[in-house]
Amino acid sequence: MPRVLLSVIRERVLFKRTLDKLKSVEQDTRVRRVFGKVKRVIFRQFLHEQHSCASYLIGCPSRGVAAIVDPQGEPSEYLSATEQHGLRIIEVIDSHVHADHLSGARELAERVGATPRLGAGADVGFDHNPLSDGDVVEIGNRRIRVIHTPGHTPEHVCLLVDDWFVLTGDTLFVGDVGRVDLTLQEADDDELRIRAKRLYGSLQRLLGLPDETEVYPGHYAGSSCGRGMDGKAISTIGREIRTNRALSLDLEDFVAFQLSDVPPLPDDFDHIKRANLGSGDPKKEHTPSDRI
Ligand SMILES: [Fe+2]
Repeated sequence: MPRVLLSVIRERVLFKRTLDKLKSVEQDTRVRRVFGKVKRVIFRQFLHEQHSCASYLIGCPSRGVAAIVDPQGEPSEYLSATEQHGLRIIEVIDSHVHADHLSGARELAERVGATPRLGAGADVGFDHNPLSDGDVVEIGNRRIRVIHTPGHTPEHVCLLVDDWFVLTGDTLFVGDVGRVDLTLQEADDDELRIRAKRLYGSLQRLLGLPDETEVYPGHYAGSSCGRGMDGKAISTIGREIRTNRALSLDLEDFVAFQLSDVPPLPDDFDHIKRANLGSGDPKKEHTPSDRI
């Protein structure tokens, strides 16, 4: 075969190989672009032995940002967890004013230059950004929808993440529900009934979420914030509907359930609640039932 012809064939083969490589790179890029749009989330549950509390990290790796929900203890735990994933904390949220443990939200928020967030109407004595029902908090590409769930406390919020899973704070636990008596001021039975009705309404809203919605509560077994919660701190709405006794009660029975066999107050309740309110003034705490 003439040399010239051989050279032309070689060039054509090389050209085709280069073209195939380019196509493959282009395809890879397209795949990356497509998968880049698929919902990606960094999600971590922190279980604290002390008070059987749960805190959460919700992060968007594409944008390198994160939210921390219901932090307890030292900021360093959350800072190192987020740094590990190259995330920067931009939101620090408390589901409600806690009564059984000192919140770590203010300290963490200060460390990261954020303003702590709480449900609207929280009578706290420090600067915070209120969250109202229906608000959407964007953490990069992640969307956290606020569901106002009064009952356990007036300002309590649950957080629905990407219509996939819900952080239920002290409204709904695995196998249990929140209690309505953890306030600094004495509440008579009429007052407790009103709060129990509010909690019942809030739970109905959560039960309206799709069965497959994952449930991540604020406490697990061992906590004084409920009566008989499970030791497993993950569930789904469907499983709770099937197995959680409190959710099977009608309104009247639910109210009676909340008023009977009330567990003892958490240790050091008074001091903790005042510290989390940031005022030390009990009048700043839950006021009359029309605010619940
Ligand atoms: Fe609580």
